Amino acid sequence: MGHSRNLRRCSLFLNSLNVLSTRAQDNPSPGSVIDYAPSTNVECPDLSTTSLIRVFTPQNQTLHPAEEEYISNRTTLVLPGAWNDWLGDGSLLSYNLTMFEGFYPKVGIAIPGGGLRAAQFAAGCLSGIDARNDSAKAAGSGGLLQVASYISGLSGGSWITGSLFFNNWPNINELVLGNDRDLAGWKLDLPLVTPDGVNLFSNENQAFFGSVLWSVIAKGAAGIDTSMTDPWSRMISYHFLNQTTRANFFTNDSAHGAGQLWSDIPSLPAFRQYQAPFPIIVADSRPVGSNLTTILSPEPVVYEITPLELASYDPNLSAGVNLTYAGTHLVNGHPENGSACVVGFDQAGFVMGTSASLFNQLFDFARNEVDQFSDSDSAGLLYVLARQLRDVRTRAEDVANWPNPFQGLKNDTFEDSNSSWLELLDGSSNQENIPYGPLFVKARGLDVIVTVDGSSDDTNNWPNGTGLLFSASRQATILLSSHQQFPPIPQTPDDFIEMGLTSRPTFFGCNPVQIPPEYPLVIYLPNSPPISGDNPVTNSETFQLTYTIKHTKLLLQQAHTNTISGFTPNANIADPNWGLCLQCAAIDRARYKFNRTISRSAICSQCFEQYCFDPQNPPSKSELPNRKYLFVDPDPQGFTKLNNFFTENKSKLIGSLVGFVGFLAILTGGLLWWKWHQNSKANYQEITTFHRDENDALVWQHHLEYESFELQSH
Ligand SMILES: *[C@@H]1O[C@H](CO)[C@@H](O)[C@H](O)[C@H]1NC(C)=O
Ligand SMILES: *[C@@H]1O[C@H](CO)[C@@H](O)[C@H](O)[C@H]1NC(C)=O
Ligand SMILES: *[C@@H]1O[C@H](CO)[C@@H](O)[C@H](O)[C@H]1NC(C)=O
Ligand SMILES: *[C@@H]1O[C@H](CO)[C@@H](O)[C@H](O)[C@H]1NC(C)=O
Ligand SMILES: *[C@@H]1O[C@H](CO)[C@@H](O)[C@H](O)[C@H]1NC(C)=O
Ligand SMILES: *[C@@H]1O[C@H](CO)[C@@H](O)[C@H](O)[C@H]1NC(C)=O
Ligand SMILES: *[C@@H]1O[C@H](CO)[C@@H](O)[C@H](O)[C@H]1NC(C)=O
Ligand SMILES: *[C@@H]1O[C@H](CO)[C@@H](O)[C@H](O)[C@H]1NC(C)=O
Ligand SMILES: *[C@@H]1O[C@H](CO)[C@@H](O)[C@H](O)[C@H]1NC(C)=O
Ligand SMILES: *[C@@H]1O[C@H](CO)[C@@H](O)[C@H](O)[C@H]1NC(C)=O
Ligand SMILES: *[C@@H]1O[C@H](CO)[C@@H](O)[C@H](O)[C@H]1NC(C)=O
Ligand SMILES: *[C@@H]1O[C@H](CO)[C@@H](O)[C@H](O)[C@H]1NC(C)=O
Repeated sequence: MGHSRNLRRCSLFLNSLNVLSTRAQDNPSPGSVIDYAPSTNVECPDLSTTSLIRVFTPQNQTLHPAEEEYISNRTTLVLPGAWNDWLGDGSLLSYNLTMFEGFYPKVGIAIPGGGLRAAQFAAGCLSGIDARNDSAKAAGSGGLLQVASYISGLSGGSWITGSLFFNNWPNINELVLGNDRDLAGWKLDLPLVTPDGVNLFSNENQAFFGSVLWSVIAKGAAGIDTSMTDPWSRMISYHFLNQTTRANFFTNDSAHGAGQLWSDIPSLPAFRQYQAPFPIIVADSRPVGSNLTTILSPEPVVYEITPLELASYDPNLSAGVNLTYAGTHLVNGHPENGSACVVGFDQAGFVMGTSASLFNQLFDFARNEVDQFSDSDSAGLLYVLARQLRDVRTRAEDVANWPNPFQGLKNDTFEDSNSSWLELLDGSSNQENIPYGPLFVKARGLDVIVTVDGSSDDTNNWPNGTGLLFSASRQATILLSSHQQFPPIPQTPDDFIEMGLTSRPTFFGCNPVQIPPEYPLVIYLPNSPPISGDNPVTNSETFQLTYTIKHTKLLLQQAHTNTISGFTPNANIADPNWGLCLQCAAIDRARYKFNRTISRSAICSQCFEQYCFDPQNPPSKSELPNRKYLFVDPDPQGFTKLNNFFTENKSKLIGSLVGFVGFLAILTGGLLWWKWHQNSKANYQEITTFHRDENDALVWQHHLEYESFELQSH
């Protein structure tokens, strides 16, 4: 009986989806939210003449040829002009730039995770090194962004990275705050999970959830297992991609970024003209079958997603797959299913959502909560997941599920070589919150790595060096054969703090002893209190998923001001030489590109005295007086208003949530059962046989309970 009932549900559901897709075809121009669904039966390229997989070894590491070409074209066509715009002829630094014969250092920028705080902090920082910003340009720091070859993002850092590209590398202040032309801004005053406020059942929130689910269900109906990462990815898209405005937010008039693919980046105008650094997003993985819900050890494979590939330069994998086909399950490089490939899996929102997929550590099935998220965000996410589970099959709902394109490869070293899926996670899951990995890959040969560290490590949400320490350690052990090493840094977070290195800009690795240098130079720009001694607004909580416009503006302003200021020892004023000092750091490695000695100029040596970390002669926090470390909400009405609303309406909410929570309790049983029972084999037919398991009774029961919940809530 349960059987037929479920089949009926299924076919009803598929019928309605057919109707929807026909409707979308009638009106193709603005796209539709169901463009989130990958296409699953696309003819593969001729695999006798081309391969979707690139395999290499740490000893013979290669980059994707199109990446080499992009970097090489940017290096010859754009970077000489950018260096020249920034440093002039070099005379202010007492160099003559022509003596470097065009051999400039290769620069990368790393943007760590930390939710909306990290994304906004990075925006303020990047505007402080952007030649297009007048105050940054005047301070001499503006120009560093323009000479970068790479930019890597992780979690919240992937959101600003994606946003910069999918809005065609715009002015950063306008990207965040909007302008009256083409940019709608990030709209962070509309809460990420419950944009209409804490009442999940308001018409607007219900319309929003409906649109989000319509996308996710379309993907599930294409036969690809979804998870919590999918609705989360769609929510992120409303803010960071370019198709959502305040006017269309709660409508289906826009695709809200569905159908925009990470592999589309090469066709964006700024990319075609080599105007932007090459973007790389980082995600971790948990070994399939481990079901880990804790912090990861350093061993599991770390992946990167470029506009060209899903890849890993970790020695034990050393392979990449063509990103366009990344949703295809490949065994030894061949699709499981004859010549049928999947395309359209690399949704821009899903890439950003994967990198920010921290649910495996936060799902609390016992308490029906997503830990750390606010009550309303947690309830919103679980509510959406519950509705999703009603309609489509999920697998491992607490991770980002990617069909494994590397199955069968490197079966002596690659831990997921036997698995048909990859379980990708937030890039910070192994405590490397800063996406350094890709920038230290030997074949990329970076000379300078700029870090805009908006990590929350200590109790006031400031960084404390943890990200650097974990990356340095992984590079020195697991990545010895494949990656450059980290320059010398203090040994503990306490040392970072006591030396003041988390409260001022610092250069690490200024004095290598080999040619070529044994490590890159790291320019470290930590989120830190305003040098003026003002109250800080940049150290808000990672899980604050709403900002008033006023807070966003102040946050950008503070991050920007610190970035263009450097520090003056024992004072609360900007360093007038900071811009030059940053230029000294960026160009310094050019001196090492020659066998003859080119000595560091006097002014640059003086800069390095102040800004370089010298393990023999460490600096002290005592040089940085009158810094305020405690976060002060700049717009209390705004944020507290929301909280108060939630408190006042809690009883009403609880009323409508009672059925829901009861349902969840039963669902949890179902989930655990499903987790236990799920078959690791996936093929695209399985969606129609979803309910054909012998234990039907259980599945049936959970649907029955769901329906009674539905009755209560309507
Ligand atoms: C290294 O890899 C490249 C490209 O895959 C290949 O052409 C070359 O022969 C390899 N070299 C060695 C020494 O294996
Ligand atoms: C790099 O420039 C060359 C010559 O202008 C051009 O043929 C090639 O397509 C460019 N490569 C990329 C990746 O744009
Ligand atoms: C820099 O060096 C080049 C070539 O050595 C020389 O022609 C030029 O005059 C120098 N510029 C300055 C400002 O000294
Ligand atoms: C430069 O950045 C500051 C701080 O975010 C901002 O107030 C100013 O408008 C920006 N200027 C331009 C030209 O974008
Ligand atoms: C968009 O369409 C879906 C599917 O019909 C519906 O559930 C959702 O409520 C709609 N959203 C809006 C904003 O109209
Ligand atoms: C959004 O960006 C895409 C390129 O990613 C572009 O084709 C499109 O015109 C943009 N849409 C809007 C509404 O700006
Ligand atoms: C992906 O494969 C297609 C088909 O072979 C090819 O045209 C495209 O250039 C490949 N893209 C990358 C990034 O390798
Ligand atoms: C590992 O791969 C090799 C080469 O592809 C194959 O010969 C071998 O049987 C595989 N081993 C296992 C355990 O699958
Ligand atoms: C790499 O593979 C080897 C061989 O299976 C294994 O001993 C080692 O632990 C793996 N390294 C990591 C970092 O997983
Ligand atoms: C540094 O940050 C880590 C988390 O990233 C935290 O566990 C540790 O307690 C912090 N230590 C100090 C001294 O702030
Ligand atoms: C420097 O000398 C080494 C060894 O003689 C040589 O391999 C290298 O190519 C030279 N580098 C430059 C930039 O000339
Ligand atoms: C992880 O979950 C799967 C499926 O539920 C189960 O088969 C496996 O034994 C679990 N692994 C561990 C290490 O608990």
